[in-house]
Amino acid sequence: MCRPTHYTVCYEINPWMDSARPTATALAIEQWERLRSTYLDLGHTVELIDPLPGCPDMVYAANGATVVDGVAYAANFRYEQRRPEAPAYLTRLADLGFAPAAAEFVNEGEGDMLFTGTYVLAGTGFRSEPAAHRELQEAIGRPVITLELVNPRYYHLDTALAVLTGDLIAYYPPAFTPGSRAVLEHLFPDAIIAGEADAAVLGLNAVSDGEHVVVAPRATRLAAQFAERGLEPIPVDTSELLKGGGGAKCCTLELRR
Ligand code: ARG
Repeated sequence: MCRPTHYTVCYEINPWMDSARPTATALAIEQWERLRSTYLDLGHTVELIDPLPGCPDMVYAANGATVVDGVAYAANFRYEQRRPEAPAYLTRLADLGFAPAAAEFVNEGEGDMLFTGTYVLAGTGFRSEPAAHRELQEAIGRPVITLELVNPRYYHLDTALAVLTGDLIAYYPPAFTPGSRAVLEHLFPDAIIAGEADAAVLGLNAVSDGEHVVVAPRATRLAAQFAERGLEPIPVDTSELLKGGGGAKCCTLELRR
C-alpha cells in the first residue's frame, strides 16, 4: 500500500476525476489508515512503499505491478502522469524479494489483471493492451483470458469485476462487450451478478481474502450477496479516494509469493 500523502485530483484521466472539485488529503489519509488497520486486524501483513511527490495517484497501488509466484511483472502506464510510479513499484518489489519482469506493452498491473484459482482475467479497452496480456502469460505461465471493457466509468477490470474465492467472482455485465460477457457466463456460471447501484459506487472494487470482503459501505445489496455465499462483508469507506476513481481494491496490491 502507498499512503496518500500527495493525493489530490489535479488532472483527469478517467470520468470520476474532476480537477475543479476539491479533495481533502487529510480525509483520504484517514480513510486509507482505516483500510490498512482493517487488513492488520484481519491478520494480514501490509508492506508499504514511499509515496513520490508529484504522483497524486500513487495511492492506487493495485496499478503498480502484477505479482505472482515470486515474480513482479512491471506496470507500464497508459498516461504520462503516472509513468514515474512503475519503476518505483518495481524497485520496492525487488527489495521485497520479487523477481522483476519488464513490460514492453501498456498495462496497469492488478487494476486490469485479476487472479482466480485457475485463470488470470485481464481487462482491456481503456488502459491495458491485449499484447500485455500475452506478455504476462509468457512471463508467469498461467492462462490469461482477455476481457473487453466498454464503459469509461469502468475503465479498469477491478472496477467491474471482483474475485472472491478461488473460482467465485462477482461482476457487472454491462461493463463488458457481449463476447466477454458470454466468456464470463461460460467460465463462471455461478458468479454473483452485481446491480447498477452497487457497481456505480465501485462496490466491485472489493478485496477478498477468501473469508472476508472489504467493500464500499454504500454497496449494500452486493454486501448481502457476498454474505449469501458465506463471505463476511467488511464495510470500509474510501469515499475520498473515489474522487480519483478508485476504491479499496485500487489501494491494494496483493503480493503472492
Ligand atoms: N486516478 C487513477 C487512474 O485513473 C485511479 C486508478 C484506480 N485504480 C484501479 N486499480 N482501478 O489511473
